[in-house]
Amino acid sequence: MRLIILGPPGSGKGVQSKRIGEHFGIVQISTGDSLRQAVASGAEIGRQARQYMEKGLLVPDNLMVQLVMDRLDQEDALGGFILDGFPRTISQAEMLDDLLQKEDRTLDAVLELKVRDGVVVSRLSNRRLCSQCGADYNLVTKPPKTEGVCDRCGGRLIQREDDREATILHRLEVYHRQTEPLEAYYSNKGHLLTFDAERSVEEVSAAIVEALESGTGS
Ligand code: AP5
Repeated sequence: MRLIILGPPGSGKGVQSKRIGEHFGIVQISTGDSLRQAVASGAEIGRQARQYMEKGLLVPDNLMVQLVMDRLDQEDALGGFILDGFPRTISQAEMLDDLLQKEDRTLDAVLELKVRDGVVVSRLSNRRLCSQCGADYNLVTKPPKTEGVCDRCGGRLIQREDDREATILHRLEVYHRQTEPLEAYYSNKGHLLTFDAERSVEEVSAAIVEALESGTGS
């Protein structure tokens, strides 16, 4: 199965793509995670991408396309994948179409998560992540037992650089301007399945699984 998951920052693409990937036995490919790893390891692509990520801007297409093309050719992606965070522009979508077509691979569905901007701001400004194990907390809905400390491993909780309120608002503006047009692009191709992602994590996953197994969105 080959899937794309689309949605604004904080809509739950990361959380849902991991769950859906596990359910269907396909690899989750997150461009945001790959870029953050590249920044942390000091790799050249990370050095170039960092300035854009910190401002909430999109990393230029030439860097992204190479990153994704290399990843899709790896062994674990040949049996299927769920792409989280790519494509984010029409030109990225066209390049992905070309690549898949050349290799006789087709998309099964594009999953679109719908969340209002106000919900995004609340989710992301309250998000904290463990600097050691990556566990995810929310100061309002899922606080750690001890402030600033991971329940699971005792690691220090940090805020993502781009989860400051001004940057979240900028990321949303970039999403509406550059990524939202993909909704019409994939709808016209008959690939789009749309989900209300303001429900609980479990309800959203159940709706996606049901839609993929029956061929309808909700
Ligand atoms: P990326 O990491 O992809 O950031 P994003 O799209 O802004 O996504 P987030 O990770 O913030 O949100 P998400 O939708 O994955 O939600 P999550 O599951 O984490 O990209 C970062 C940057 O990299 C970009 O800004 C850009 O600079 C660059 N980049 C990446 N790809 C690129 C590309 N293709 N082209 C150019 N540049 C690119 O959940 C968020 C929070 O909400 C969590 O705390 C979670 O627990 C909570 N949550 C999730 N679902 C629910 C729910 N149903 N109810 C309550 N809480 C929920």
